[in-house]
Parts: sequence; structure tokens; C-alpha cells
Amino acid sequence: MSQPLRLVILYNALIMKRIISILATALCVLTASAQIRIATPGTELILKADVGAEPQIQYFGERLSDTDVANLQAAGVPNHNAYPAYGLWCASEASLGVTHSDGNMSTVLRVESVTQTDEPTAKVTRIKMKDTVYPFYVTLCYRAYQDVDMIETWTEIENLEKKPVVLTRFDSGYLPLRAGDVWISHLHGTWAAEGLLVQEPLDRGMRVIKNKDGARNSHTDHSEVMFSLDGKPQENTGRVIGAALCYSGNYEIRVDTKDTDYHEFYAGINPDNSAYNLAAKEIFKTPELALTFSDEGLSGASRNFHRWGRKYKLAHGDKERKILLNSWEGVYFDINEPGMDQMMADIASMGGELFVMDDGWFGVKYPRLTDNCALGDWEVDRNKLPNGIGWLVEQAHKHGIKFGIWIEPEMTNTTSELYEKHPEWVIKAPEREVVKGRGGTQLVLDLGNPEVQDFVFGIVDDLLSENPEIDYIKWDANMPISNHGSQYLSKDKQSHLYIEYHRGFAAVCDRIRAAYPDVTIQACASGGGRANWGVLPWFDEFWVSDNTDALQRIYMQWGTSYFFPAIAMASHISATPNHTVFRTTSIKYRIDVAMSGRLGMEIQPKNMTEEEKALCRKAISEYKEIRPVVQFGDIYRLVSPYDSHNMASMMYVSPEKDGAVFYWWKTETFYDDHLPRVKMAGLDPSKTYKVRELNRIDNVPLPYEGLSFTGKFLMENGLEIPLKHKVDYHKQDDWSSRVLYLVAE
Ligand code: GLA
Repeated sequence: MSQPLRLVILYNALIMKRIISILATALCVLTASAQIRIATPGTELILKADVGAEPQIQYFGERLSDTDVANLQAAGVPNHNAYPAYGLWCASEASLGVTHSDGNMSTVLRVESVTQTDEPTAKVTRIKMKDTVYPFYVTLCYRAYQDVDMIETWTEIENLEKKPVVLTRFDSGYLPLRAGDVWISHLHGTWAAEGLLVQEPLDRGMRVIKNKDGARNSHTDHSEVMFSLDGKPQENTGRVIGAALCYSGNYEIRVDTKDTDYHEFYAGINPDNSAYNLAAKEIFKTPELALTFSDEGLSGASRNFHRWGRKYKLAHGDKERKILLNSWEGVYFDINEPGMDQMMADIASMGGELFVMDDGWFGVKYPRLTDNCALGDWEVDRNKLPNGIGWLVEQAHKHGIKFGIWIEPEMTNTTSELYEKHPEWVIKAPEREVVKGRGGTQLVLDLGNPEVQDFVFGIVDDLLSENPEIDYIKWDANMPISNHGSQYLSKDKQSHLYIEYHRGFAAVCDRIRAAYPDVTIQACASGGGRANWGVLPWFDEFWVSDNTDALQRIYMQWGTSYFFPAIAMASHISATPNHTVFRTTSIKYRIDVAMSGRLGMEIQPKNMTEEEKALCRKAISEYKEIRPVVQFGDIYRLVSPYDSHNMASMMYVSPEKDGAVFYWWKTETFYDDHLPRVKMAGLDPSKTYKVRELNRIDNVPLPYEGLSFTGKFLMENGLEIPLKHKVDYHKQDDWSSRVLYLVAE
């Protein structure tokens, strides 16, 4: 097509789009009734938004009939302001705090207009509010998906005053929850123990969940929560509201219970030490808060997060992940050509599809022999790898697998050429010595600085343009922001440090994805520091934890699965005794746990026995069969490891319910143990499923191997799982686990 013709078509298309959007907008403004229904296939949020009045939240839950909506007010609704601003009624918590340009600290917002527009798979509602005195606007935005049960909400704050205003609080969203016996489920942890589940009833007072790491945000607490509205949380029954703040930086989640019948839930960027000077005409957009509702318990809410995440958030959420070997726990910094080649040959021989070379491959003036130097000097260490990255990529090719590489691009060390050249690029408080991290030398680069952004983009750009066959990047981040000070930001913008860091991070990630849309990228941050829906639009997966101990992973992966799908959870078979907790587990147990996530290996294959290798080879081949069910299926958590039954069990069911994978792990061993018989869930009661055990080590098959049962039977009765494996006496140990593959006939 000729250039002018293309331009005319483009121009016409743009005019048409504008006309359609004006019509759609006008239509919605004209028809905007007081009650605004923001609906997904199964849920809805109802607001009252009269022009000239404050907007109010009336309902969030299962989708209602027209009659019930018409009579909602009479039935009793919260009548809470949909986005309470600070200033009048000061004793209440607020979603927004503003100091106007004349010093007035009060804000009063009233609805000016409501518009609803269509996106291809979602409806977007915008409730625009104006301060009653100042030309200061806040728009509440809601995106309701039409094919998954998720509503994303965010706000856009616009300053049309003549001078800057200061934002002292800027939540993404707010929701009142009717009190009763409401419980909160959230994730808590630390390095090597991330994603542990905490469940507690909401009581009077304020519950705050927050992060102030600066760079990463999910080591300690997570920015996702679930509320069970009908008493003690149940996995497969009861009403649940789930909320996930889609942000990579500091956050604050508050649940305030005062003297009313409501718990008030607020979520947004953590405003602590982050006052934001909003310039005249500037718009501040908050991150999205994703809200879901399910009446199928916690697992139901998880399924909603997983479906939405795979379809709309996660990078390549519709593509199967490769089975990989990562070099870290196998060789640590001891990188060399023969060693890498041997690991590639070994993983290829076991049926793996990708090899990832971890830390230790770079540094010329300061070779990276340990963790105290060279971050920023992303040049290959020719003493270790004389033939460079290109040779490794070629070798991988020869072995019939793909090649991946580790980088930590946001960081440097005081012992590095980069720091010698650019000391002004690090985050540092003026006049003060820098606080250093890992290795006693690590520092964080100031991503708010566009020159640093160019540098960080350049690291990936150089690697991938020089070696286009690199298939995978492990992007690490091993230090919090420990010094408050930007050498780039002006004096009056020092409080923007955290926010600008994450804007810079987003800008770099956008550039990388525009240039390299297909490369797989893992978000690692000293393990699970970057498990959040803020980064996953650019990242394909995250490293759940540096702790690869199978038993502790059951607990961590259980919690993490509340909000994140298996396809995003990197889960590796590692050596025993485990390098973090020094527990000795069987290879079968390690395989059966790793196979419930995105399977990989993190081990020196050279040190494995032939028998272990054979079992891994079999597991990899069987994982390939179940991969679509694990990575795209629906999760049903059955028996929680946290419930002290000495076992845990969960399953994935394909969306068509024609295949399922059932996991059973014993978590304790006592003589004369009596474990519950586990009822399955999520199957089609009328279908018949044939049972096959995977990763079998027993000398004799299970009694039901190859037999068929109806979904109804499996869900009402389940199958007896033997407490021990039937293996030769000298092979017995205290570990027991099963993976059953159910295929509909
Ligand atoms: C972090 C990561 C590990 C590994 C090391 C390398 O700790 O979490 O997986 O990559 O860095 O230094």
C-alpha cells in the first residue's frame, strides 16, 4: 500500500475512533443514572454517582438481578464515599491527602461526569470529580473485564491549579466490607521463606500490611490479600474478595475497623517519605488495584487471579514454559567453559529444553569470583569463558537446547569499573557515606535518571543484539534502597525517589519488551522479592525463593498460589542435603514438589546417581505430558499444609475438565499415622477419568493404576493414598508423595 493511502486510512480510522468514542461517551453521560453497574461475567461493583454529589460504593459481590439492584438501597448499603479525601471528617482514614497550592490541606470532591466506554474485552467506567473550590480533579477509573471476573481500579489525579500541589496520600482504591466474621488471608515471609500464608480474623483497630524495601516488594509481606466473608477461610466454599495491587514498589494496605459495621480497605503506593509534588497541569496515575469476588472459596478467587493474570498481565501467559537447568546451586560462581558445557549436555540428556548460566560470568578489571564486585561491568570474563557467550550459545544449540543468562542490571558494586566511571549514578544521600549491601560493596543505581535507564536498557540490548539466540534472561535484584537520596532529582523532588525509581524501571522494561518481545525473562530478587502483578506484564515468571527445600517449598508455593499461577512460579529440583535448610529429602519428593510449578533443575547433574538421573529423565518426559494442565489449568487446593494434617494436597484441572493432575505430599512422618482421605475437586462429575501414577518408584503399581472412576466418585470419596512407598527395604525413607494424572475417557 502506498504511504499517502496508508496515511488517509489511518487518519480516517482515527477520526472514526474519535467519533465512536465521543458517541459512546455522550451516550453514557446521557444515560448515566445514579447507580453505576460495573460488571464482569459473574461479579459486579455498584456505585451511586449523582452529579454534584460525592460518589458512594453500594455493593461488590456476585452479579445481581435488576430487581435486586433497584431495591439495593432499601436492603441496606454502606453509603461510603468511593474515594474519601482528607480534610473534612478528619478522624476517618482517607484515600487521598492533598496540600493545595495555597496551603489548604482539605479536599472535597463531587462528581462532575460519568462515562463508560468499551475496550475490546472490557468496559471502562470513569467517574470524574472536581474539588468544590479548587480546579483540582480526581477521576476514579474501573476496568471491568468481560471474559474474566476481575475489575481493575485506579485513579488519575489532575492539578489545574496555577502552582504545584503536594500529594501526601494517593491510594489506588478503597472498598468497605460488611463486618461479621471476616478473615484476612495474606502472605508474609523473609528471604528464603517467602510467601507463607497468614490467616486471621479482622478485629477492631487498624491492620497495616506494607513494604518499604524501595526496589523489591514481596520478601516480607505481599501486596495481595483475600477476605473470606463467611467466617474461617475455606478453600472451596464461601464468599471471598481478593485484591492485588499491581505495583513493583513500596505499598501500603490498610484495613481499618472503627465504630461502624464496616471494615474499610485501602490500598496504594506507600506514601511514607514519598510526598509527591504534582506540578500544574500534571496528572498522577496510581497503579491498578485488581479486585475479584468468588463464592467458591479461596481457590475460586485464586482461579480468577490466575485466569486474568495469564490472559491480561503475565508476559506470554499463553505459552508453555521450557524445562530448564540453572547453574547457581550446581556451581555457584565457579563458571568455566567445560563446566557449562557439561551441564548443558546433562540437562539435554535428561530431556530439558534450556540451560541458564547464573552469576559469575563477567568482570574484566574486577572478575566476579564472589559477590563483592563487578556488577555493572557486563563484559564476559575471558579467563573463565575464553570463547565468550557466543560459544556457549552455539554449544547449547549443538545440544539441542536453548541458552539463558543471569544479569543484575539495576545494581553496581563500589569495586567496579562502572562505579569508578559513574559514582553519580548510584542512589546516595547527599553529604553521607553510602550504605552498602551484598558483599559489603553493593549499591543500587538511580533508575529515575534517564542516563541510567539508557545504561540498563543497553545491557540487555547489547547481550541480545550480539547473541540473538539467547532465549532467557534471569533478571536479579539483590539490594533494597538503603540510602535515601537521588543525585539526579532536584532538591524539591527528593521525596519522589521511590516513585521515580519504579517509573524508570517501567520505562526500561517497556523499551526491552518493544525491542525483544519474545525473550523469556525471569524476575528474581534474592529469591521471591519480585512476585507481584506490577512486574509480571514484562516478566514471564518469578523465582519463588532461594530456598529450594521441597518441604518448605510446599508451604511457600501454597501461599504464592493464592495469587499467582503455576506457569509463573519457578520451582526447581535441587541437591540434598538442601543448601539452605540442610534437610535431606528423597529425589522423588523433590521431583513431585517441583512438578507442581514451572519445573526446572538447580543442581550439579555430575553429582547425581544414574538412578536419580533416570528418575528425573522420566519426570521431565511426564511433565511434558501434564504441562498444559499445570500451566494453563484451574487450581483446586484440597488439604492445606498449614492445617496440621501431616499432609497437603492440591490439583490442577484443565479448563475443559478433560484432564487433571492431583498432588499429595506427606509433610510429617509418625508411626501409626492416620491421614485424611482427600476428596478431589473441580472435575466433571459425569465424566470418567482413568488414573495413572507419574514418577512411580514403587515396586508394584497402586491398586487403582489404570482404572477409571467418575468425577462424582473422585470428588465425593477420593482415592486412598498409601502412607509409604513399596520399595526395597534399603531404599525406604520417611518421605512419601504421589502425583496422579487423570485423563477423561
Ligand atoms: C540471588 C538469586 C540467586 C542467584 C544469586 C546469584 O541470590 O536469588 O538465585 O542468582 O543471586 O548471585
